[in-house]
Order: sequence, then C-alpha cells, then structure tokens
Amino acid sequence: VVDLDRAVTVTHALGRYPVYVEPGVLERLDALLSEHLSGRRVAVIADATVAELFGPRLPLPAREVLTFPAGEASKTRDTWARLTDTLLARGFGRDSAVVALGGGVTGDLAGFVAATYLRGIPYVQVPTTLLAMLDASVGGKTGLDTPHGKNLVGAFHSPAAVIADPLTLGTLPERDYRSGLAEAVKHGLIADRDYFVWLEQQADALARRDPLVLVELVRRSVEIKAGVVSDDEREAGRRAILNAGHTVGHALEHTSGYALAHGEAVALGLVAECALAEQLGLAPAGTRARVAALLTTLGLPIRLANPPLPGPLLDAMAADKKNRRAQLRFALPRAIGAMHPGEEWTVAVPDDDLLASLHVIF
Ligand SMILES: NC(=O)c1ccc[n+]([C@@H]2O[C@H](COP(=O)([O-])OP(=O)(O)OC[C@H]3O[C@@H](n4cnc5c(N)ncnc54)[C@H](O)[C@@H]3O)[C@@H](O)[C@H]2O)c1
Ligand SMILES: [Zn+2]
Repeated sequence: VVDLDRAVTVTHALGRYPVYVEPGVLERLDALLSEHLSGRRVAVIADATVAELFGPRLPLPAREVLTFPAGEASKTRDTWARLTDTLLARGFGRDSAVVALGGGVTGDLAGFVAATYLRGIPYVQVPTTLLAMLDASVGGKTGLDTPHGKNLVGAFHSPAAVIADPLTLGTLPERDYRSGLAEAVKHGLIADRDYFVWLEQQADALARRDPLVLVELVRRSVEIKAGVVSDDEREAGRRAILNAGHTVGHALEHTSGYALAHGEAVALGLVAECALAEQLGLAPAGTRARVAALLTTLGLPIRLANPPLPGPLLDAMAADKKNRRAQLRFALPRAIGAMHPGEEWTVAVPDDDLLASLHVIF
C-alpha cells in the first residue's frame, strides 16, 4: 500500500526539498506554492502545449504565464534569452519566483532561467510528463543544449519543491509516456533489483497506465533518484550512476538530430552499455538480454534502423560533458540492481571495446 501523502525528501548542499507524488495534488497547487514560495510573485514557464492543457487550471493571471514552442529544439540559449528578457520587461524582481510547469525540457529551461535570473531566484517544479516526474524534476540539474551537444550550458539549482500529479499523465502522447519508462528501467538497473522485477511484473498495467501502478512507479523512481542525489553529499561521485545509458544515449540523441526521443535514446544506450559491461567482464552474461527484454515489453527500441557513423558518434560522446577529455568513461552495471564501483563509479573504456559493443544496437 502506498502512503499517498508522504512526500519524498531530497537533501542537498544548501538544504532540502519535498517531492510530492500524489494524484490530485495540483488542486492544492495554490496552497503549496504559498507554502514553498511564500508571497513571491510567480512566473509560470510552460511550453505552448502544456500551457493550453493546464494553464486555465492555474490560479494566476494569464500575463504571468510565459510560453515557448514545445520540444527539445526550444531548450536553447535563444529561448532562455527571450524568457529572461520577458521577465525583465514585466518587472519581475528579486522577490519573484518561477514555476516550471511541463516536461523535462521545461524543467531544464525554466530551472536555468531561475538559476540565472538576477543571479538566482527560487523555483518549483511541476512535472507533467512521466520522464520529468520520475527523473528530470529531481536533482537540481538545469541547463540548455548547444550545437555541440546536449546540456552543455547549465547550473545546479535545486527547486524549493517538486509537485508531481500523476493524474496529468492521462493526456500524455504514447511515445512520450514510453520514453519516461526508460528512466524507470534505468533506476531499477542501477540501484534496485526488486524495482526492476516489479517493472517486469507490472508491464501490462504500465502499458494501460493503471493509475495506482503509476503512482507507485513515480514514487519508487523518485525515491531511488532522491537517494542517489542525496547520497552524493557523502559518497563522492555516486551520482555518476544516474548516467547509465546516457553516454551512448545522449550521443545517439544528438547524432539523430533529436529525431530519437530522450527515453528512446536512453533505452538504446542501456542495451549498448550493458553489452559493454558484459564484454569487459564486469556484468554476468544475460544482463543485457534481460534489460533488452524488459525495454521491448515496455515498447522501447533496442535496435536502431539507421545507425550513425562511428566517427560522429564517438565525437558526440567525447563532447558529452560527463567525460573528461582523453578517455571515455562509463557508469556500468555489475548486475541488475547494482553498479560497478569502478573509480568514482565510472570505468575507462577503450574506443575498440566501445565500438564492438555498439553492434548489439545496430
Ligand atoms: N535535469 C535532469 O536531471 C534531466 C533528467 C532527464 C532528462 N532531462 C531532460 O528532459 C528532457 C526530456 O523531457 P520530456 O521527455 O519530458 O520532454 P518535453 O518536456 O519536451 O515533453 C514532451 C512532450 O509532452 C508534452 N506534454 C507535457 N506534458 C503533457 C501532458 N500532461 N499531456 C500531454 N502532453 C504533454 C510537451 O508539450 C512535449 O511536447 C530532455 O531535454 C532531457 O535532457 C533532464
Ligand atoms: Zn535521462
């Protein structure tokens, strides 16, 4: 039985914040914003799709909602400049705050606006995609994409609170919904074998978006992510395990020109990186097959029809900020539910091994 009213707490260097995961919690948005942004003037930032879906339900004047076109292509310095200029033009001061209402694109973008506006104002995350609820809204990473790669300009800026209402997921397009499930598989793989097994058992209910199963899904993923990011205060670098599937994934996403959704790229990345872990003798045989089987059941890709050339792919991985220059480093599993401690939770991988393992997804 899930205790619906218990918020998950995330601790970080400067404090702590609650993550509410509750069906219907949006009805209490007004009260929660008062509680966590006491008396501040609030600018809601949302993409146009989300503003239309949920804007009318917000207890705010229309002019306090700032919008931008939906999609990853908006996660740029141009959009950031336009949003901050609008805030300045409308006279938002240091005593204001931002609400990031929407998916991971909005969270990263609006979070970065909040991190930089007048040298930083508070913000609250109100995630409305599965990916944002169970992953992106927690952890305080904000940022933008550049022509050189994803998330290469950004800041750590923790929200004052995260308010996740799983009832908002009803309108989410199928592809975005499935994309979010890839991060849940990642959470099981990196930290919680029981959760991975639960995902295997609940695959049908997940496909139906069974409301109770969704609440448990978001809550367990948030607990895992909160545990890892809170843990990092003490255990240097453990946060790197959250990059599982993402070194290959980000490079695939970038080289596809963002034709692949983030979660689809992560699914492919998880398969390739599990193959790599097996090949390096770090994970037992069968790890990749089990992860690939679960991803397939959840409707996620495990093979790429039009693979990129190895050269551009390696370049994209080298550009990924998670890698120090000379050598590519990966967070790799040692089993379902546990990551290899390596050196600060990553392992250096020669290009040849990497290229060989990529064949499983091409
Ligand atoms: N900061 C982090 O730690 C972190 C972690 C993971 C991913 N991310 C980032 O998150 C981004 C991907 O997030 P995303 O998949 O949520 O993309 P997204 O924000 O673009 O949302 C996907 C689509 O769903 C629409 N949408 C949102 N909520 C809806 C709803 N309830 N009903 C109907 N439509 C809705 C949006 O308008 C958009 O078109 C990537 O940029 C990725 O880098 C960040
Ligand atoms: Zn991700």
